[in-house]
Amino acid sequence: MIPFSKAYSTGVEIEYISRALDSGKTSGDGEFTRSAQEWLRTQLHAPHVLLTTSCTHALEMSALLLDIQQGDEVIMPSFTFVSTANAFALHGATPVFVDIDPATQNMSTDAVRAAITEQTKAIIPVHYAGVGCRMDELGALAKNTGIPIVEDNAHGLFGTFNNKPLGTFGALATLSFHDTKNITCGEGGALVINDEAYWERAEIIREKGTNRSRFFRGQVDKYTWVALGSSYVMSEVLTAYLLAQLEHSSTIQQRRTEIWSMYHNGLRAWAEINGVRQPHIPLECNHPAHMYYLILPSLSERQRFIEHTKNNGVQTVFHYLPLHNSDIGKRFGYTTGQFPVTEHIADTLVRLPLHLHLTDDDCTRIIETVCSFEVRHDG
Ligand SMILES: Cc1ncc(COP(=O)(O)O)c(C=O)c1O
Repeated sequence: MIPFSKAYSTGVEIEYISRALDSGKTSGDGEFTRSAQEWLRTQLHAPHVLLTTSCTHALEMSALLLDIQQGDEVIMPSFTFVSTANAFALHGATPVFVDIDPATQNMSTDAVRAAITEQTKAIIPVHYAGVGCRMDELGALAKNTGIPIVEDNAHGLFGTFNNKPLGTFGALATLSFHDTKNITCGEGGALVINDEAYWERAEIIREKGTNRSRFFRGQVDKYTWVALGSSYVMSEVLTAYLLAQLEHSSTIQQRRTEIWSMYHNGLRAWAEINGVRQPHIPLECNHPAHMYYLILPSLSERQRFIEHTKNNGVQTVFHYLPLHNSDIGKRFGYTTGQFPVTEHIADTLVRLPLHLHLTDDDCTRIIETVCSFEVRHDG
């Protein structure tokens, strides 16, 4: 069976991890953390980047930084991973779910505009598959209303919108290094701080509510409890792993792009004949080849497709179950709108394997397997 996902190792990780172990400093904020943060900061042209234990935790840090309170509203797509909502709901906020654009699976600006109330404390665009949301429109909306944007950029490291890196539009942005992502350290994330106003508190919140970072830099002679915070610092063992991957990112990105393009070109004719939709990349966007997905005409055909690829030794998967329909989403979330696009996409989208263990022969086999599936239009 060709697996849907399999973490890739560049071969350098183990050497860097050994160096971290030999250094005798395996907790966070050592040499590897500094190098990885600097690498990301330079790549993104962002003022500040802090590595965190996950993207989920970087989102939780954002909730603390925005001082999210009971009754605050936070606007986000329903078509996303639970962490986007959970991080804010954990602090008493009401996730306000909106529908997505059928072309990109990204939140629709009109739906966001309609969902804004006096209680709105943040807007959370999710750049689905690393294809940027309409950050020109959302940025203008944020500017006019004064509501901060937190980009959930779990998928989109190396993606751009109008040639500007995703993760540099919001006051804050988050990244994921979970092992399903292009660049991984097993579990990990980062918080990008684009608005200087959040920088000082971000360091404190990440360090259990203490000013230990300032102490380490010799800016204070002892450290103490100065705010509410938690333990969001990534250990040096993982930052060593991460740095090895970041330093090999051009090879990783090049191969992922090749695979993505092989699928896109190899499936075009089949998709057209069978009424299957391929990913749409708007002209403003460069995407990081994080995901290759197809949209089938119906739920029953999507399920038959997954069964067909499985029977031919190719694992394909679907996601997300819309948050507005989940038990917890109904209990903590809020919406006045309808979700025709979210519900249709959740029923019909399927993802193909995309990782660096795939050989060209594997990709050919996957394409042949897909092309041997005939969509039934009464399905
Ligand atoms: C859109 C989105 N946000 C957040 C996350 C959470 O990332 P992590 O596993 O690093 O906490 C994910 C995970 O895949 C995701 O897809």
